[in-house]
Amino acid sequence: MDILTLGNELLRQKAEPVEKIDADLVKTVRQMLDILEGARGIGLAGPQIGCMKRIFVIHIEGDIPRVFINPSIIETSQETMKYEEGCLSLPGIWADVVRSKSVKVQSWNERGRPFTLEAEGILARAILHEYDHLEGVLFIDRLSESKRKRILARLDKQAKV
Ligand code: NI
Repeated sequence: MDILTLGNELLRQKAEPVEKIDADLVKTVRQMLDILEGARGIGLAGPQIGCMKRIFVIHIEGDIPRVFINPSIIETSQETMKYEEGCLSLPGIWADVVRSKSVKVQSWNERGRPFTLEAEGILARAILHEYDHLEGVLFIDRLSESKRKRILARLDKQAKV
């Protein structure tokens, strides 16, 4: 399974809720964790591999691998922070993105158990970034227009070489 990159329309579509956490879904989640590890990434969302379901996985070094199925963002802090983000679907692109500093999320795991998680720091950042993917939003959408245009122009130039 390949990771889709900018320009693929699926990255711009809203993912559908998971109706049943069955063996197929568990298999997909395992594959996503493998792909994530292989790509040395922090997070991967369903749409990034063309699976238009509301799922994402996060694995931050020193933490356990985390699986989110049908997640809802319940709360985001007023307090924001700037942090440099990258994305497996935007290889080579890094930019400072402003997001809430902490987040409260309600979700299900791959065993079908619901959980609520309060996160801050890199984990909160990753949850908000991956959740965006389920809505068809990429981190470059959260940059100023001038910055986004600069990045897109650079990508365009690279594509033509
Ligand atoms: Ni991403």
